[in-house]
Amino acid sequence: MTFEHPSFGRITDDRVFIFDTTLRDGEQSPGFSMNLEEKLRMAAALADLGVDVIEAGFPVASKGDFQSVAEIARVVKGSVVCALARSGGKNDIQAAGDAIRHAERGRIHNFISTSPLHMKYKLRMEPETVLEIITTGNKAARNLTNDVEWSAEDGSRTEPDFLCRCVEAAIKAGATTINIPDTVGYATPEDMERIFSMLKERVPGADQVIFSAHNHNDLGLGVANTLACLRGGARQIECTINGIGERAGNAALEEIVMAIRTRHDQYPYTNRIETTKLLKLSKMLSTTTGFDVQPNKAIVGRNAFAHESGIHQDGVLKNAATYEIMTPESVGWSKTSLVLGKHSGRAAFRDKLAALGYTISDEKMNEAFQRFKDLADSKKVVYDEDIIALVDDEVRDHARIRFLSLDVSSGSQRAAEATLVLEIDGEAVETTANGNGPVDAAFNAIRSAFPHDARLALFSVGAVTEGTDAQARTTVRLEEDGKMVDGQGADADTVVSAVRSYIHALNKLLVKRTRSEPESLLAE
Ligand code: KIV
Ligand code: ZN
Repeated sequence: MTFEHPSFGRITDDRVFIFDTTLRDGEQSPGFSMNLEEKLRMAAALADLGVDVIEAGFPVASKGDFQSVAEIARVVKGSVVCALARSGGKNDIQAAGDAIRHAERGRIHNFISTSPLHMKYKLRMEPETVLEIITTGNKAARNLTNDVEWSAEDGSRTEPDFLCRCVEAAIKAGATTINIPDTVGYATPEDMERIFSMLKERVPGADQVIFSAHNHNDLGLGVANTLACLRGGARQIECTINGIGERAGNAALEEIVMAIRTRHDQYPYTNRIETTKLLKLSKMLSTTTGFDVQPNKAIVGRNAFAHESGIHQDGVLKNAATYEIMTPESVGWSKTSLVLGKHSGRAAFRDKLAALGYTISDEKMNEAFQRFKDLADSKKVVYDEDIIALVDDEVRDHARIRFLSLDVSSGSQRAAEATLVLEIDGEAVETTANGNGPVDAAFNAIRSAFPHDARLALFSVGAVTEGTDAQARTTVRLEEDGKMVDGQGADADTVVSAVRSYIHALNKLLVKRTRSEPESLLAE
């Protein structure tokens, strides 16, 4: 079967489209929110990875969301940029259309619930009203772009005959992609395969649209369900980097892509993903959000290719295929990621940054290079991960407050004391404070230099690489008047890293204070 799609042209049945929703469904999970600059960086990296569609956000949700979708639409090339909208929301479809107006290729993704439970309790609507909204929503979207996706929210728990009617109505009204989410992660692979096979068989016009899978991971079945959807006829996969998303998350992009590639015998489909960039995307997301994946996470976890037992090590040395079903290099792990040392110069550093996908201004480059030199002095080996952590720290918009220096004295017999120098609105400010341990003293010094009422809601520490000389990666969460922000930092000194995280969070909070509140999204 072949047909003409408005964004992808003539497509064949073996092509699977990768739709990434890290910046929308992923960003909806607590603690994973990103600012404009971070979203732009992620979007550029996703386009470079080869993602077909980037769901950039939900424009009607807030001015900030609108702005980030519009900016991503303006700058991203090579991927379709998609904006989410409620089919029946008052201003949703217009806001989505406005946000993607300048995209090279733009999509409006509209959705409404179709399950009995959601229609009765959430929407308080009769099925016939939902059908009408599907028609008006898709027609309105189609007036703004010819690439329109419609989703049956809670589709997997929708009564089959009604689901067929909804999909038929959406196609008639102009939808070109039909997404059937397992919104609550309840379905099994058998359920999902059956639903897609049924729709493809029963709905008139089904051969002129792309069917799409969107599986949540509440039972840990997100990836398995997605592969089953492919067997049922879905040819678009909605997924996120590291599997982030509402509650237990969405199906993980890297796992699905590598399952298709590794088990091509069972999933004979093509896509555009450059798999050697998967690890880079995973790490970029972790450093941006401050949440590492668990060590045993498939594909991108620290242990995904580590062999501990003697028997396994022996086998891998004789022939890697004995215990490795894919090569570490195929997903971006390098045999040795040792890259630069203290004798490396500016040019090598710049080359390395380019290879890792960073282009930064000369000013930020100078600062990052200085920090790299300091790190190389204190640390025996500097890994790619160290450089990524350091540069991610440097390229952030430090806005009003910048870290200059920190001196801490502490010990088991005396109170900790921190002397901190910050640049606040261009002026150097020095303060000294005591505390219950060095981190507490340093945070007290920040509060004294820049008084504020935000509450410290979370402080976590992890290591960027291994060894006692590894850089510490820290996350600080601040909360003020119901607004929550996360800041990240990295440094060979844990307390300096903590201070960098705190300042990052504080700068984000200052930006957030100036933004307007999101409109209510409760009313459909
Ligand atoms: O899980 C879901 O149902 C969604 C829709 C908005 C597509 O995220
Ligand atoms: Zn979802």
